[in-house]
Formats: sequence, C-alpha cells, structure tokens
Amino acid sequence: MQAYTARAHTNIALLKYWGKANPQEIIPTTTSISLTLDEFYTDTTVQFDTALTEDQVILNGETLTGKSSEKVSKFLDIVRSMANISTRAYVKSTNHVPTAAGLASSASAFAALAGAASRAAGLELSLEELSRLARRGSGSASRSIYGGFVEWVRGVDDQTSFATPLVEDVDWDIQLLTVVVNDQPKKIDSRGGMQHTMATSPFYQAWVDNTNALTVPMENAIANHDFTQLGQMAEANALQMHATNTTACPPFNYLTDASWTVIQMAAQLRQEGIDVYATMDAGPNVKLISKAADTDQIQARLRQLMPDVTTVVATPGPGLQIVEGEQI
Ligand code: PMV
Repeated sequence: MQAYTARAHTNIALLKYWGKANPQEIIPTTTSISLTLDEFYTDTTVQFDTALTEDQVILNGETLTGKSSEKVSKFLDIVRSMANISTRAYVKSTNHVPTAAGLASSASAFAALAGAASRAAGLELSLEELSRLARRGSGSASRSIYGGFVEWVRGVDDQTSFATPLVEDVDWDIQLLTVVVNDQPKKIDSRGGMQHTMATSPFYQAWVDNTNALTVPMENAIANHDFTQLGQMAEANALQMHATNTTACPPFNYLTDASWTVIQMAAQLRQEGIDVYATMDAGPNVKLISKAADTDQIQARLRQLMPDVTTVVATPGPGLQIVEGEQI
C-alpha cells in the first residue's frame, strides 16, 4: 500500500484540558483553547505492508519497544478498524522539537500519526474526523489538526468532542517564549496526573467550572486581539490547574523553584509595564505569553536571574499537512 507522510505542529493550551469525563474515548471535562506553534512539529510516515507480522515504529531513528510502541499500535488498531483492514504498518516519526525545549510532543505526534495512518489505510477523513481520531491518541492532539487559535469543544461523546479553528492565520503580535528550566522527561505523565487529581482534589470541580466559564471570554479576547485579557486568563487558568495537583491526595507538583522564579519574574515585569504572562503544562518549563517587541527585555531579565537558562521563541503555526510518499 502507498506510504503517506504528515506534518503536525504542537500546541500550547491557553485554557487547559486536565481530566477526562470518559477515559476510554478521551472526552474531556473542559473545553480547551490553544495556540498551534510554528517551530515545533512532528513528521510521520506510515505505510501498511502485508509482509509485516507486527507494527514497526521508529521514532527519531530508534525502534520503539514496550509501552510506547504498544500505544502506537493501539492507535493504529483504531485506524485499522475504521478502514476494515488488519495489515500491520511501518511508522517512521521524527520530532522537530528542539531537544533543549523540553516540550511534550504527544500533541504533534498523534495529530501527525492520525493524518498519515488514516490516508495510508485508504481513508479520506474530514478535518473534524481527523481531530476526533487524533483525540483518541492524546487529547491535546485533537487541537493540532488546525493552525493558529483552536478550540476543542469538550462534547459528550466521540461524535461531539473535536476541535475547530478559531483563527487560523494569526496576524497580530503574540508569541510563546519557552523557558527551559528542566529538559528531563516528566516523572508523572499527564494521563496519570490528571486522573489522580480528578479523583482526589477537592478543588477539581471548581477548576472545571472556572475553565468552562472562561470559554466565551477567551474567544472574545482572541477575536478582539486583547493580549492583556488573554494573558491574564491563561495565566490564572494554568495556576489553578497546578493548584489542583498540589491539593490532590497525595499531592504532586510539576513546578519547581525555578518555575516559580520565572512566574514571579513575569509578575514583576508586568509591574514595570511589560505585558507578559506565564503558562505551564505537565512539567516545570514555563512558557511566557509575550510580544515579539518585548523579547530582548524579557531575555535580559531572565539572564540576570538565571544566567544559564535556555529559551526558545515560538510563533503561531499552521495546521496538519499530508502528502503522498515519504517526504514532506
Ligand atoms: O494530551 P495530553 O494527554 O498530553 O494532555 C495534555 C495536558 C496539558 O498539556 C497539561 C494541557 C493541555 O490542554 O494541553
């Protein structure tokens, strides 16, 4: 069968997904809103081949085994059942996330896999169907089907839970400056973390209610290019998400002292008139929602506080691309 290659870019949530109303189908408790990033992406080639007795998955040049390869095979099983085939596949994936960036790549990985695997299996899915399929691999991947600002409407079941684009071409000054405080793999993965928090934090429902109440205000801030409103809501939403982790039983915490140094630096810079806000996911790195014009000043302050710290600037990026063959 013909090989197909897809490229998907990662995204960072401004309003987060943190918990599943239905863990099997990955139906979230919150509607989330994200920004797709240009600089970080995954390229994945898939070819189904009757000569194979099992799926063969190569990530960044290395053959995957154990849990990681099982996760890919389970996802391919969904594609196989949709296409009504049982053929095993060859999957080759390359993450173009600067190694030092320490960003999670599951969003771009499963969006690219959904695109390449579905086409290689002979399916012609709509973007909505691709978003629903990507969601089954990793919730945040549902949003990486589109570029720019994207909203994943939580829905109630597989049919109704998918992402839609809010603004695909972002023509105003907004960027994410990632501060790499630690590039080691995270100890508690997002799947386990969100499940534990949901089951044990007394503040979890309050976070869900607050997040869902922010959907329309965040849509408005994006439509009005209101950087300050957007940043304030995103930072509050991230901090509240992390507060549900520190109030879980037993508690856990992705943020380190270094993360807090950066979060407090953002607050200090705001007092000095620079509009900059922090957001953090299932790890200690802090992404600063900022304007290109302020990059030098932010980096200068960071160097004073943390002389050896690495930063990566990311700007709004495009949606999924799929091509025939092994090259994109
Ligand atoms: O898609 P997952 O299972 O890796 O979960 C992503 C969770 C967060 O990154 C913390 C938030 C989000 O909405 O992306």
